[in-house]
Amino acid sequence: MVSAPGKLLLLGEHAVVYGYPCIVTAIDRRMAISVKNTQIATNGIHSAINNTTFVEKALEIGTKAWNLPSNGWEAAIEKSFPNTYGFGSSSAVTVATLSALAEAAGKSPTKQELFGLAFQVVLSVQGVGSGFDVAAAIWGGTIFYKNKGQLIEEVPFDEKDVSFIVGYTDIKADTTTLIQEVAKKKREYPQKVEKIFQGIEKLVVEAKQRIQEKDWERVGRLMDFNQEYLRDLGVSSQKLEDLIVAAKKAGAWGAKLSGAGGGDCMIALVGKEKREEVETAITKAGGEIVPVKMNEEGVKTI
Ligand code: PMV
Repeated sequence: MVSAPGKLLLLGEHAVVYGYPCIVTAIDRRMAISVKNTQIATNGIHSAINNTTFVEKALEIGTKAWNLPSNGWEAAIEKSFPNTYGFGSSSAVTVATLSALAEAAGKSPTKQELFGLAFQVVLSVQGVGSGFDVAAAIWGGTIFYKNKGQLIEEVPFDEKDVSFIVGYTDIKADTTTLIQEVAKKKREYPQKVEKIFQGIEKLVVEAKQRIQEKDWERVGRLMDFNQEYLRDLGVSSQKLEDLIVAAKKAGAWGAKLSGAGGGDCMIALVGKEKREEVETAITKAGGEIVPVKMNEEGVKTI
């Protein structure tokens, strides 16, 4: 059986779709999948989740790429997490399926090879996306990701120094629509949007350095700048703003939306001593605190 983690995007969303960098961490929500060949004429999927499109597509693309029989594969989703919070369930399930198929067929793809195939699966189902979530599911830890996976670098840090608090808005984000809205804005105001992306790139590059230096106050400031740019792009929402303002007022070093925007989650960076105050403030503002562990291991056999 193989398990792959979900993700939390720390900085750089939307710009990453256009080749700019982002920083993403793998989290303690995992998809576990087993695959075996039953020698029967069709493929079967045992699943507690409704949407098995990614599993089907992963079996199709994987069997083609590795010259395996196209039928007889039975995939079972042994452990899953819902897509409610925007924690990357699609990328995790895709990576886990491909990796479990490789294992069942005695193949040992490199991380890069696995990434190429999993990204192809996600793009053929969703049509859009930068692949950062696929990379997080494969590499794990916290990574600096750029240019559709052409640059992937680890950004090591110890979570015990700080707290990232995750607040859920209770509104499901529609990633594809939000990506399309940003694309429309980019067509209408190319220079303005390009400038925003360049600003985001600058702060993501600096954040990579500051995280390693443990200059958390500065990382918080950079998150705030990132949020301003995301607001300018039009992907924030009133609820996200309410939770972000509440976190800041309660003493967070920085706070921003995480992911596509419109809903899903916000994240706040706080010193350990402020954790409770900030969590209370987010809850009072109508958010749900979602306990999340970061820097988790990438795809692995279990
Ligand atoms: O909605 P999420 O958590 O999958 O994040 C989307 C992040 C985007 O940059 C908007 C899209 C992408 O694929 O990079």
